[in-house]
Amino acid sequence: MDEQGISKAEVLELLKNFKKRDMTHRSGRILGSMCTCPHEIGVEAYRMFLESNLGDPGLFQGTKAMEDEAIAMLGDLLGKKDVYGHIITGGTEANIMAMRAARNTRRIKNPEIIVPKSAHFSFKKAADMLCLKLREAELDKDYKVDINSVHRLISDKTVAIVGVAGTTELGKVDPIEELSETCADRNIFLHVDAAFGGYSIPFLNETGYDLPKFDFSLPGVCSITIDPHKMGLAPIPTGGILFRDRRYLEVMSIETPYLTEDRQSTIVGTRTGASTAATWALMKYLGREGYREVAGRCMELTELLARGIKTTGFKLVTKPQLNIVAFYDDELSVWEISDRLEEKGWAVSISSYPQAIRIIVMPHLKKEHIEMFLHDLGDLKP
Ligand SMILES: Cc1ncc(COP(=O)(O)O)c(C=O)c1O
Repeated sequence: MDEQGISKAEVLELLKNFKKRDMTHRSGRILGSMCTCPHEIGVEAYRMFLESNLGDPGLFQGTKAMEDEAIAMLGDLLGKKDVYGHIITGGTEANIMAMRAARNTRRIKNPEIIVPKSAHFSFKKAADMLCLKLREAELDKDYKVDINSVHRLISDKTVAIVGVAGTTELGKVDPIEELSETCADRNIFLHVDAAFGGYSIPFLNETGYDLPKFDFSLPGVCSITIDPHKMGLAPIPTGGILFRDRRYLEVMSIETPYLTEDRQSTIVGTRTGASTAATWALMKYLGREGYREVAGRCMELTELLARGIKTTGFKLVTKPQLNIVAFYDDELSVWEISDRLEEKGWAVSISSYPQAIRIIVMPHLKKEHIEMFLHDLGDLKP
């Protein structure tokens, strides 16, 4: 840091130079990310609550009341209005909180968790931080968790089983109903990672899709991750963690001596209220109708993209269940495809099981982007 500051105009000019080097979602060129353009209402709400600290909720009672309402609205969306939870930084923090609640509920020696091989890498972080042994269950032919493999991994050390509603790489929904039965029978904590699918599955089902049950309507489900900063259109960082019972928050609460609340269950201490404001405002503004429209449009474009990919001669890994398309080619490697698309200005990502080009059709993508992309993709084929 220099001794003397510079003018505001100079600072802004320098900031613009950094910004110029970034890609934007608005350009429609980011195809491999679960983030998107935040909705303007979310941005405005976020700005209004920049100084609110939910780590000290007695000082920000309005923001706290808003968090309670946002959690109740999310619970209602996911099958149970009276849930307990928080608006936090994202899916990683939510998954770590869920694993911590599960571990602390049992408090046994050498605890283990069972996650599908498709689970997000945040569970590896959780296992590392919480000293949990991570056991990975195999996937079936459709890339969903194989319930028999889960059964084989269960032991008296199992403190949690995880199912995913919208896998990170392929957008698959695990058989949560079967996992729920398994967990309810054996009194094992079941966590559902719906970071990606939580804001779309319920809305798609309302518009006639037939996606499987994954939420608190299933009695075995103890907690759910749902990310407003993915399909919920909220600014980053905004995540959500919901628990069926208050005791799951209590088992991981820590005394907070000098604050306006006595105990705290979240991982971060100082916690922005802006994310809560954005989540609340977006649900109020868009309503179910607005979110149905967003999720439905993404699926229509996903279907258009999947059809187009097949027409250009590439192969789909699997039929998309949510708004993710993964494809490959018998002659060109995924690295060649990715490099050549990058030369044309497209940022795709590469999935790992199997290796394929992965496109997430997020709300910032429009029909013209998909058509331009398919045109450029067609050029890769001789
Ligand atoms: C299913 C799932 N869970 C958790 C996460 C982690 O979310 P975040 O990056 O917000 O921490 C992701 C991110 O893509 C995800 O797809």
